[in-house]
Amino acid sequence: MKKYTKYIKPYLFFFIVGPLMTLTEVFGEIWIPRLMSMIINTGVANHNIAYILRIGLVMLGACMLQVSTGVLGGYFSVRAAVGFTGDIRSELFAKVQQFSFADLDDFSTGSLVTRLTNDLQQIQQMVMMGLRMALRSPGMLVGGLIMALTLNRDLALILLVVIPLLGVSIFLIMKTAYPRFTRMQTALDALNNGIKETLTNVRVVKSFVREDHEQDKFEGLNGDLKQRTLDALNTVIFMMPVMTFFMNLTAIAVVWFGGNRIIAGRMLVGDLTAFITYVTQILMSLMMLAMIILQSARSMASFKRVSEVMDFVPDLDDRNAARKDKEVESGRIEFKDVSFSYPDENRIEDDETTSVAMPKAGTGMEARHGAGNDGEDFSVLQHISFTIEPGETVGILGATGCGKTSLVQLIPRLYDATEGAVLVDGVDVRDYSLENLREGVGMVLQYNTLFTGTIAENLRWGNEDATDEEVRKYAEYAQADGFVSSFKDGYDTMIEQGGTNVSGGQKQRLCIARALLKKPKILILDDSTSAVDTATERMINAAFANELKDTTKLIIAQRIGSVKDADRIIVMDDGKIVDIGKHNELIGRCHEYQEIYYSQVERKEEVPA
Ligand SMILES: Nc1ncnc2c1ncn2[C@@H]1O[C@H](COP(=O)(O)OP(=O)(O)OP(=O)(O)O)[C@@H](O)[C@H]1O
Ligand SMILES: [Mg+2]
Repeated sequence: MKKYTKYIKPYLFFFIVGPLMTLTEVFGEIWIPRLMSMIINTGVANHNIAYILRIGLVMLGACMLQVSTGVLGGYFSVRAAVGFTGDIRSELFAKVQQFSFADLDDFSTGSLVTRLTNDLQQIQQMVMMGLRMALRSPGMLVGGLIMALTLNRDLALILLVVIPLLGVSIFLIMKTAYPRFTRMQTALDALNNGIKETLTNVRVVKSFVREDHEQDKFEGLNGDLKQRTLDALNTVIFMMPVMTFFMNLTAIAVVWFGGNRIIAGRMLVGDLTAFITYVTQILMSLMMLAMIILQSARSMASFKRVSEVMDFVPDLDDRNAARKDKEVESGRIEFKDVSFSYPDENRIEDDETTSVAMPKAGTGMEARHGAGNDGEDFSVLQHISFTIEPGETVGILGATGCGKTSLVQLIPRLYDATEGAVLVDGVDVRDYSLENLREGVGMVLQYNTLFTGTIAENLRWGNEDATDEEVRKYAEYAQADGFVSSFKDGYDTMIEQGGTNVSGGQKQRLCIARALLKKPKILILDDSTSAVDTATERMINAAFANELKDTTKLIIAQRIGSVKDADRIIVMDDGKIVDIGKHNELIGRCHEYQEIYYSQVERKEEVPA
């Protein structure tokens, strides 16, 4: 709770004045029936028009007070709640930006989106309701009781019977409703996740003609939500009828006992009408109180989920970096006996979402690496050592899943090595500030993306201050200038979300140009020309060799042709380096290399030129 006070501070005025206004509103509301009874008792009974007018005016004043403070109370509460949650949302977003790749593996994107939107919405709702109702309901309850007692102590005894009865009924309804609402929320989360997965991958769905399957999946989740919502609402629909029942019962009792007293001359008519109003207010406020409790209980889950993000300590930071002002200067890379496994999954319990059976994306992959029970080393990377000199071009080759991406990710510290050390310019990467390290290491990720905006804007991600000439120059190196210039709007062509309006190979070349604009000392291309034709790829490599002489280049590829001319080639197999050497050396001595080579050459021969 304490961590939320800092978000309350900027809106403290609204947080205090809102409820104060509400209290004044309650005062007005409690006062009005009393004035009414005075009009009936004295004014109407004695035909005293002047008195009726006078008290009527006071009543009008009370009404104005009630309305204006009600509106202001509402306004301040809304300001407080919206400001409070808006600030938390900004902070959470900033927090998520600090997340490392490993952290992002843990929180699913869907769950983060839900936490930043839905869950915060719930909290906002609760704060708003809390500020409005937390004082209003008890205020009405206490105020109403006091007025009822002062009006007629004996008649108020009826309330002593009714309140506990109503209380027990409400409690029973709530007790059934609460778990049902929790289950409803869980089903809603699952539905959100399902929709998100289908829609973000809608192209894949369509290309596999899996619409029916997705529809079925959706129907399942939707049916679940419908059923659970019905279950939950079926309990609260009893609330109003039960309420009305007790209210009418009380009214009958009050009129019966009160009527007898009036006939006996021991009570005034006006007091009776006022009394009935107070009784209604008291019972209503009881019900509202129950509703608040239910709502806050529901919001508790949201609070927990938001707090989880807020309290999360990113797995990777540079707070303890020893040489924060060090920059990458020459681009020498050294791996010293490096082993690596991906962090344990499920560090975060996504309790709300996992309880409903949902097919999780990514299951059904190859056997997962991790520490095995039989003592065998299942690490993704095992005891890797090598050195790359500044300006060298090094290719990395190996079967799919052998750990190429995992290896290079350690250089810009997207993940940290589990054992051993990765050194850049002789300094442990953990001793750099993340900013300086990543400034010096440009990496084109294997699964890359462009953002909504023009091509020029996208390329300037690498360097905001790049001139038009620079943008063009590096696009030329990446062999992107040609096709960009052929577009009607050239570099001002809009890229759609996710880069769907450029081809796969065009997108890859834009991603390379974007990385080049950073002018990094170390450039890593992770399978970044897989969708580019061989001739174009050769031109990219030639541009690298001629124009980026001082840059250390690490090129992961599936095709031997992509790395054949590299200074050296690292051949990997199952998390280990099997050999390092030039093409000519490897073709003579490395079994794995020969295997890859001949498989690709043979394939070539099968296809007539
Ligand atoms: N984020 C991750 N969390 C857990 N395991 C992962 C993760 N990424 C990859 N792995 C596992 O690590 C192993 C090595 O994966 P990696 O991506 O490094 O292979 P790769 O050589 O780049 O393959 P490809 O040529 O297909 O890109 C694989 O078995 C994979 O299942
Ligand atoms: Mg890879």
